Amino acid sequence: MITNNVMKQIVALSNKPYVFERGTGNIWTEEYIAKQMLKAHLDKTSDGASRNIEAIEKTVDFINKAIKKNSTILDLGCGPGLYAERLFQLGHSITGIDFSENTIQYARNHAKQENLQIEYRCEDMFQLNYNKQFDVVMQIYGEINTFSGYEREQIFRIVREALKPEGVFIFDVTTPVHRKKSGLSNKWYISENGFWRGNRHLVLEEGFAYEDNIWLDQYIVMDEEEIKVYPNWFHNYTKKDIETIVLEAGFTKVNVINSLTGESNSNESEWLTVIAEK
Ligand SMILES: C[S@@+](CC[C@H](N)C(=O)[O-])C[C@H]1O[C@@H](n2cnc3c(N)ncnc32)[C@H](O)[C@@H]1O
Repeated sequence: MITNNVMKQIVALSNKPYVFERGTGNIWTEEYIAKQMLKAHLDKTSDGASRNIEAIEKTVDFINKAIKKNSTILDLGCGPGLYAERLFQLGHSITGIDFSENTIQYARNHAKQENLQIEYRCEDMFQLNYNKQFDVVMQIYGEINTFSGYEREQIFRIVREALKPEGVFIFDVTTPVHRKKSGLSNKWYISENGFWRGNRHLVLEEGFAYEDNIWLDQYIVMDEEEIKVYPNWFHNYTKKDIETIVLEAGFTKVNVINSLTGESNSNESEWLTVIAEK
């Protein structure tokens, strides 16, 4: 019989959270989920944790053409090093930061195996303290979308401090078109062994809309041991929004283009690539 307590807990957790409220779980650093994430990163055909391989190669080519030869690059949230390795092979010098121990360990081992001299550090990007060391800071696959306004300002400050004069910050963000296409999910399922847990578990998935193009995809995961909440926040940006925010953060110039292709802007683009100059 379901106890009153469990029922109360699930009902309380299903209430709409306040904007950018944190959950009780972390999809990047929890050991079991981190292993599933690594598999997703390394799946060349999917756009799960990293983009598919063709899109990665196009992005690397785009970044390589947008920056100086032999740049020093800081890759924030580098994952298993899919961009770092390719940019290193093009002659750049790379420091990759990620707070997932499992992913960084993979990246280090892979670089060693391939004889690539990339520095990987397992750190929280909010704790970084670099001073004018890099020509380029990059952050790829929408990490900025997941930050609250306060966190975004913190990262912009950390990036500006890390950049040399005239250095550039290259990142990508989703636009409101992205959410219009994907919509909001509201479903539940039981799995014996899946992305969230290796044992039997129940997943309650719910989407919430907020003002100002902010969205939440929330996953409540319950197994025999515990109930945890994994919120996935997204703040989508229009071209105008992101230009204003970047300039207000103290960057002197900003160039916003359609992701990957470098073609002229269209109102239908789901992704934007931003190049902000210090
Ligand atoms: C969507 S994945 C993208 C990874 C990589 N940029 C790519 O496209 O292949 C985001 C990455 O950021 C890392 N990450 C998220 N928050 C972080 C933080 N506060 N500090 C360091 N790494 C973080 C995650 O562990 C994950 O590897």
